[in-house]
Amino acid sequence: MSDKIIVAIDGPSGSGKSTLSKMLARRLDFINIDTGAMYRTVALAAARAGIDPEDHAALEQLCANLPISFKRVGVKEQVWLGDEDVSDAIRTPEMSLLSSAVSASPVVRKAMLALQRHMGGNRCGSGVVLEGRDIGTEVFPNAQVKFYLCANDAERGRRRYAQLRQNGQDVSLEQTVAEVIERDHADKNRKHAPLKQAQDAIVIDSTALDTNAVLEQMLHYVHLAQGKKAKGEG
Ligand code: DC
Repeated sequence: MSDKIIVAIDGPSGSGKSTLSKMLARRLDFINIDTGAMYRTVALAAARAGIDPEDHAALEQLCANLPISFKRVGVKEQVWLGDEDVSDAIRTPEMSLLSSAVSASPVVRKAMLALQRHMGGNRCGSGVVLEGRDIGTEVFPNAQVKFYLCANDAERGRRRYAQLRQNGQDVSLEQTVAEVIERDHADKNRKHAPLKQAQDAIVIDSTALDTNAVLEQMLHYVHLAQGKKAKGEG
């Protein structure tokens, strides 16, 4: 039996998944996989190729050989498409909406699911943290630890707004809150692998908590799982 621990972190946009999965992976010396970045990269490649998000045949062909990879440079985690660093290009409001649209396509989901299982299962090391929308329900339903992060709409919109402004994007708070709500509605109501809480997920509402408080809670549960695994119970 593998000693590896898989930590699944799901939740809507702005719930703190990205920040916390990175912090958690760093503290535990686990690999971190941002699955949203993968859907964003598909969206970027589709936009550049002029592919409509409803054109499943073209999306399937696009995903068949899409060279997505992650690289860690110091503390920065980069996303690459072939030999291009697309880390910034995938973080625009346009790519947020387009990634949500392409992620509803069953052919895209099938391709990303295979890639995520491969990346999560094959990376060496003592553990992996994967963050997304369907990690605990579809990608790794047997993950040893599952978290579902949430926060209220206003707070999630405010966080996304701060992130975009920090990246130099000229957006308004009102528009960002509206886009966050619209995207979550689409992600929760799509037919294939919608965002939903796994039955055995630990729910953390981060609205009024700072990141360190959430991180400590998460570490507590991962350490419990590591203890169980060491005793052969997990
Ligand atoms: O986490 P994010 O905002 O970078 O994700 C971008 C989009 O990708 C999101 O709106 C829905 C989709 N997504 C998904 O469908 N499944 C995942 N596991 C991760 C992201």
